[in-house]
Amino acid sequence: MTFERSKEIAHSVQRELIMYRDLLRDERTPASAKLFLGLARIQTTLGKTIRLLWNPEQDYQKTRRAGTKERWRLIQSRITGTSSLLDVGCSSGVMTALAAEVGLFAIGLDANWEVISDACKKSKPNLSLAYIHFVVTPQSVAALPVCDVVLCLSIYHQWHREFGHEGAQQILYILGTKARKRLFFEPASKQSRYGPKPPAFADSDERSIIDYNHGMLGALFGNENVEFLGATTASRSELVRYLFTIQMQP
Ligand SMILES: C[S@@+](CC[C@H](N)C(=O)[O-])C[C@H]1O[C@@H](n2cnc3c(N)ncnc32)[C@H](O)[C@@H]1O
Repeated sequence: MTFERSKEIAHSVQRELIMYRDLLRDERTPASAKLFLGLARIQTTLGKTIRLLWNPEQDYQKTRRAGTKERWRLIQSRITGTSSLLDVGCSSGVMTALAAEVGLFAIGLDANWEVISDACKKSKPNLSLAYIHFVVTPQSVAALPVCDVVLCLSIYHQWHREFGHEGAQQILYILGTKARKRLFFEPASKQSRYGPKPPAFADSDERSIIDYNHGMLGALFGNENVEFLGATTASRSELVRYLFTIQMQP
């Protein structure tokens, strides 16, 4: 209740700011131009705060439609002959649903109940598809089921921020044991996403991001099993993210 009320208040402040800003724009005096700029800045900051507090990556895939299609195309090129898929941190479940639509038994899980319940509501009938609310931690990850394919896309940096390098590595390694045939991995391309002790690559520098992640995955799963699949469209702050796949050995 307090959560919803505070969200409403923030939105009404934002609407008022926009109204005053528009009034000032029509005045066309030097003083009003300065005030206009000031209000525009406050409005931008308030917008960012609202997104941060009330929409923390709530529906990531909505902001990455093109990139999600591109990623699915790359993933599909490597999953012939597989029959089950686990999508870890599935957000609104677009990728999980695409997997079910091509005939896989697909499970998506996410720590955010709102995106999971939204995914359930939108899911088409007659598919072998399930969405589960589940919070992955270095301890809880052991409970996940084994599937042919495991997706670990754009979530590793969040574990890195929360559990540090060791915790994130532990989760990733155990996820590898949950993948019978293939693990897909997509890291964030910006150091600031990883918390106080980020990995050693240079921001938005393609070569160093690919080399770092190839080496990191190689150390966990064997260099010969790691394949870089390509770059896909990400967001305004990170133009692209890089997709890797690891072929699991029987
Ligand atoms: C940036 S989104 C990526 C979504 C999707 N994998 C993709 O790449 O399109 C990260 C998602 O991971 C979820 N998440 C973050 N930490 C999690 C955790 N510890 N356990 C489960 N889900 C988590 C978030 O709620 C969010 O929906």
